[in-house]
Amino acid sequence: MGSSIQRKLVAAAARAQKGAVAPYSQFKVGAAVLTRRGRIITGANVESASYGLTCCAERVALFRALTSGFRDLVAVAVVAPTPGGPMPCGACRQLLAEYAPQAAVWVADSRDLARARRFTVRELLPRAFVLTPAARA
Ligand code: THU
Repeated sequence: MGSSIQRKLVAAAARAQKGAVAPYSQFKVGAAVLTRRGRIITGANVESASYGLTCCAERVALFRALTSGFRDLVAVAVVAPTPGGPMPCGACRQLLAEYAPQAAVWVADSRDLARARRFTVRELLPRAFVLTPAARA
């Protein structure tokens, strides 16, 4: 992926932080996914008073893309005000492994977008669970 589209994706994730609904943690995360044809779809975290129901920015962006019909996802960017950028949680890694296994994952501190770090989904979740049902009789 060229560095200009990478920067564009990280910038889109940074802008998406404004959409975060994070009244409990005040920690605003933005995410953006890139399709093979260059379309960018963004998301931000949404928190619940029942904390476990909170949905991370990565999953909001991923679900928006998938439910809008996009399947060919080549990169994901995640931005939050934390040193080195926010590493996706286990739940998000599982979903990325299922729906964007080939994607590059860019992680950036919102105060230092130029220092985005790149990971592969395989690096983030080696030996991911995949459902291979036993053959039915
Ligand atoms: N969060 C994300 O949206 N993505 C991450 O990669 C890490 C955590 C959110 C969940 C919660 O709303 C807040 O950050 C604090 O954990």
